[in-house]
Amino acid sequence: MSLYTIGDLHLHFLAPLKAQNQLKDRVWKNHEKKFEKYCRALIREDDTLLLAGDHSWGRTLQEAMPDLKYISELPGRKILLRGNHDMFWDAAKTDQLNERFSASPGSTEADSPGTAAWQDADLASPLYFLQNNYYPYEDYALVGTKGFTFEGPFYLNRSGRIIGWDEEKETHARKLIERELGRLRISFEKARADGYRKFIMFLHYPPTDILEEESVFTRMAEEFGAEQVIYAHSHGESRFHDSILGEMNGVRYQLVSGDFLKWHPYQVL
Ligand SMILES: [Fe+2]
Ligand SMILES: [Fe+2]
Repeated sequence: MSLYTIGDLHLHFLAPLKAQNQLKDRVWKNHEKKFEKYCRALIREDDTLLLAGDHSWGRTLQEAMPDLKYISELPGRKILLRGNHDMFWDAAKTDQLNERFSASPGSTEADSPGTAAWQDADLASPLYFLQNNYYPYEDYALVGTKGFTFEGPFYLNRSGRIIGWDEEKETHARKLIERELGRLRISFEKARADGYRKFIMFLHYPPTDILEEESVFTRMAEEFGAEQVIYAHSHGESRFHDSILGEMNGVRYQLVSGDFLKWHPYQVL
């Protein structure tokens, strides 16, 4: 049994594609075909695949459905984390997504005879949505939330050094960070209340912005003793080093955006 992860699939089977990098970059050409091939070669049915956000360009659930169907056809148990582009997923309605695309909450398929909700939704397998909850993996709890990082605008001097930033946007960013931190704490605390002591923490956004060496997210990872912090969102080569990579204060940090991994799922455990 293994745990794999990757983020930023940015699927668009139905939604119009406007992202220039996806239209032009070689790494993005037929990326969904490459990714599916790598998944089939690597992932077995008893494995878990956690998708770390930005699943779909769909602006509504209806537009995202072919993308969710594609994900449901991949091997293994699929857990989805919310990304900034996942417009189909209202954080406050995560329970509704879980009811519709997995079995009813709290029940297993064996408990509920007849057609499972995910089969009714025409999916090939259930999808599990990670938000204000957690999912067990062996003796680990998989916890997470979208997160947030301030991404500017930054003001540069002539030699390219950052000498300031948009303070209004930074103030707004702080509010979003606090809200996400609260959601992350709920995820950790539910797992801890159920007896879990080992954690893998997932964020869609990097844990720090480009000026920070630590953040409220890295401190929470340390507070709960998360072994690894997995994040995505940074794509395009110029963004791959926006945040922490490797070990810091006993926590391992790993970027798993799809183009960074060239669509090969990353093995966490
Ligand atoms: Fe993305
Ligand atoms: Fe993103």
